[in-house]
Amino acid sequence: MKIAIVYSSVTGNTKELAEVIYRNFLGYSLDVMIYRIEDFSPAYIDRFDVVVVGTYTWGDGEIPKEMRKLYYAFEKLGNKKIISGVFGTGDSFYPKYCGAVDLFRDMLYVRTNLTATLKVELLPQIQDLQRSQMFVDSILKRADKLNNSFKMKDIQYK
Ligand SMILES: Cc1cc2nc3c(=O)[nH]c(=O)nc-3n(C[C@H](O)[C@H](O)[C@H](O)COP(=O)(O)O)c2cc1C
Repeated sequence: MKIAIVYSSVTGNTKELAEVIYRNFLGYSLDVMIYRIEDFSPAYIDRFDVVVVGTYTWGDGEIPKEMRKLYYAFEKLGNKKIISGVFGTGDSFYPKYCGAVDLFRDMLYVRTNLTATLKVELLPQIQDLQRSQMFVDSILKRADKLNNSFKMKDIQYK
């Protein structure tokens, strides 16, 4: 099973969260790659069984410009075999808290097998570590259910 984490981050909050999630997957010794959006070609989405998208929110609850290509690629591809998840950081000072996560969630729910979402206020804190672990576990449980050849039975969920 191949897993990709694709994220965008300007001031580092989403990068930090992406790295926490990456380490959660690595904790299960899985084949996981982490990409900044600049280093990921949206044409590669369906080379992965699981794609986890990470985004901050911009403007008035908007998806950052650099993430839009990925959004449209998922929308166009529409592959229910891809298990997806979306996470992001935002600032609850804004009316549309983590609005970009909501926008990705709504589209991924229709176009892919969306499993989990995770919103974090600015920089991840101690209490977010457990939330991140649960986010990863719910994605893996879905993958386990769908793909018998993937021996998740060996995994002891934390
Ligand atoms: C101009 C501007 C607009 C923003 N708009 C929103 C917003 O609508 N909703 C939200 O939750 N956060 C908003 N934010 C906050 C960022 O999403 C938040 O700081 C995020 O953690 C930044 O992620 P990064 O450190 O990965 O770049 C905005 C920030 C800026 C500078």
